[in-house]
Amino acid sequence: MIYLYALIVLSSLGGGLALLLLIADRFLADYGPCEISVNDEEPFVVEGGCTLLEALYEQEIFIPSACGGQGTCGFCKVNVFEGGGPVLPTEMPYLDKSELADNTRLACRIKVKQDVVLRVKPEYLDIQQFRSIVIAAKMVTHDTRHVVLKLADEQEINFVPGQYIQVQVPSSDGITFRAYSISSPPSTKDEVELVIRLIPDGLGSTYLHEVEVGEEVIFTGAYGEFVLEEDVETELICVGGGCGIAPMRSIIRHIGDVSPQRKCKLFFGVRTMEDIMYLEEFEQLADEMSNFEVHYALSDPKHSSPWQGERGYIHESVAKHVNGDGNGNRQAFLCGPPLMIEAVTKVLEEKNVPKDLIFYDEF
Ligand SMILES: Cc1cc2nc3c(=O)[nH]c(=O)nc-3n(C[C@H](O)[C@H](O)[C@H](O)COP(=O)(O)OP(=O)(O)OC[C@H]3O[C@@H](n4cnc5c(N)ncnc54)[C@H](O)[C@@H]3O)c2cc1C
Ligand code: FES
Repeated sequence: MIYLYALIVLSSLGGGLALLLLIADRFLADYGPCEISVNDEEPFVVEGGCTLLEALYEQEIFIPSACGGQGTCGFCKVNVFEGGGPVLPTEMPYLDKSELADNTRLACRIKVKQDVVLRVKPEYLDIQQFRSIVIAAKMVTHDTRHVVLKLADEQEINFVPGQYIQVQVPSSDGITFRAYSISSPPSTKDEVELVIRLIPDGLGSTYLHEVEVGEEVIFTGAYGEFVLEEDVETELICVGGGCGIAPMRSIIRHIGDVSPQRKCKLFFGVRTMEDIMYLEEFEQLADEMSNFEVHYALSDPKHSSPWQGERGYIHESVAKHVNGDGNGNRQAFLCGPPLMIEAVTKVLEEKNVPKDLIFYDEF
């Protein structure tokens, strides 16, 4: 018994000490001005104590940070050569051996306490901040909202289909960000359409479900490394689950604009009829685009008896409609929950779609 008391006392003391150190570091530590040098450019100065991600943002260097700096997306990778301190255990799950060897770090995990020398991908320096006004918004299912943002100040956004933006979300700790795929085609440069599924108590999704027509939304972009093969001979296989339909809509509307004869298959998996969105729009596109096929499948048909279409998981639909002969060029883009991505990737590999031509975004 005495050991148990000793253990409780020691743990409480340890916990209390850690808390005190945290408070002291947050409110009392004064690191003074620190110089940040990015890609050999003239250094800029920030007040120490912020994260490297915040320091870069302040300097209008908008690196990918889909989780808003929570350390859960692993997107905010930069190469830190000086001043980053040791790699933290919270960074390890996101860094492989070669990244550890080339000083890759997560910018949101590094606290600026001294001068820092780092390198970011040069294309990040082109990412801009945009001010926009909500010009339309409507629910497209029971939990998903379609929002149209009109860029203010005569700004235009250049992006490729499949890319996403990061919306500034007000929070009690200041401003944070969340990533949302662009659902409109790149030919529309002064507007951005988004498709947002409401996550209960979710900061970003609640904000974008509550923002009203006429209100301002700030975002940065465009982000994302998916590059659509523009060769019209390359057949495109798009597979979306839930809000994963958003980037598919951009890709397919782009193909409708530039090469409507191109072979393209869209697979969209949802649970029930209540979750179906944009089906009429895609069916109309299929009437106009002779080589475009639309396959929707419901995985939980018990609530959806009137549904005449396919039932089952979307990877089963892919297995049914994608041929396995390996002839011709094919590129696949998958977007949705990790389990869907895993199952569809397996099917596509079995159908001889080369692994390096299967691209995906998990969310
Ligand atoms: C590249 C990229 C593109 C994206 N595009 C879209 C898009 O087009 N449309 C869209 O709606 N979302 C998209 N997302 C997801 C989006 O960025 C947010 O993660 C999502 O809106 C939840 O954020 P939140 O602030 O509302 O919830 P948070 O405040 O971050 O989370 C609140 C709680 O919900 C949990 N949670 C978070 N996400 C989920 C989830 N998906 N399911 C269940 N529980 C969850 C969290 O663990 C937490 O407990 C994208 C993500 C990425 C990385
Ligand atoms: S891990 Fe998401 S922003 Fe750093």
